[in-house]
Amino acid sequence: MTTGHFPFTRMRRIRMKSFARDLCRETILTASDLILPVFILEGKNKTEAISSMPGVFRYSLDKLLVRAGEAVELGIPAIALFPVIDSNKKSTDAKGAWDDRGLVPTAIKSIKKQFPTLGIITDIALDPYTSHGQDGLIDKNGEVMNDETVAALVKQALCHAKAGADIVAPSDMMDGRIGSIREAFEGRGFHDTLILAYSAKYASSFYGPFRDAVGSKASLGKASKNSYQIDPANSDEAMQEIALDIDEGADIIMVKPGLPYLDIVRRARDKFTTPVFAYNVSGEYAMVKAAAANKWIDEKSVVLETLLSFKRAGAHAILTYHALDAAKWLK
Ligand code: PBG
Repeated sequence: MTTGHFPFTRMRRIRMKSFARDLCRETILTASDLILPVFILEGKNKTEAISSMPGVFRYSLDKLLVRAGEAVELGIPAIALFPVIDSNKKSTDAKGAWDDRGLVPTAIKSIKKQFPTLGIITDIALDPYTSHGQDGLIDKNGEVMNDETVAALVKQALCHAKAGADIVAPSDMMDGRIGSIREAFEGRGFHDTLILAYSAKYASSFYGPFRDAVGSKASLGKASKNSYQIDPANSDEAMQEIALDIDEGADIIMVKPGLPYLDIVRRARDKFTTPVFAYNVSGEYAMVKAAAANKWIDEKSVVLETLLSFKRAGAHAILTYHALDAAKWLK
């Protein structure tokens, strides 16, 4: 790299006029980089606000289809479904997670029917379905059991693939689940269903508003997910998780949360050739919305700068609750 000396090198020359800034820009953000996460409810004609996530709602399927239509219209390539399960349908064995007539498979089918080109990503984890709010099945001491949970996750993933999900996204952090799901898919003829592995999923406090949204916060109580989600202090460990998941058959890997973990996104992008997605999670969203509501920051420019920074860090795509707004602003 040449460095040069003042005045022969004046870095401001390329910044001086907007045409030059346009030509020299290294990173571009478009609607096709965005994935919209949505919360779905049983029932009809329901829209529920989530107080810690202003502007985000839980929708019954009929209402969700309207949002899905907006996403298609704005050029957003995919949505990610998160079910809100009635507490009387939660159990210790989480069997609602692989019910073929459940909320998620029903939603997949009707979204696919109306919007065949919209990619559908489903979450593979048991927390919406467990009465204790953990992502897996627990033993009598409350510890999440790995292999028993993996067997349940395989059933859940097959149920979603059968219903027509394009991408299943295991967010549970059990060991060996990617390989087991891939093997089950290959065995049943689901050769083309993608697996988006939440490989670098941290034990983060930024998930709080999401747990309000799906109602798992109360179920979880004082328990933590520290025995399966990664310690925020670690980065090499995330690289090992990613390597294992790719080896087991992941098509895409995920880093989550996003903004406080952009170093992990960059490392993953530099180290691997598998596409990297990042999740701009609920707590990150809530902070921006709270500051914007107080007029402490300008929402539009902060959101677009934030999303651009994900791309600059190396993310191929970003899951974000700002997706519809951002796609409108980018038009
Ligand atoms: C758990 C799950 C979590 C999120 C999505 N799925 C976190 C958790 O409860 O551990 C968080 C997403 C967000 O905060 O936006 N399977």
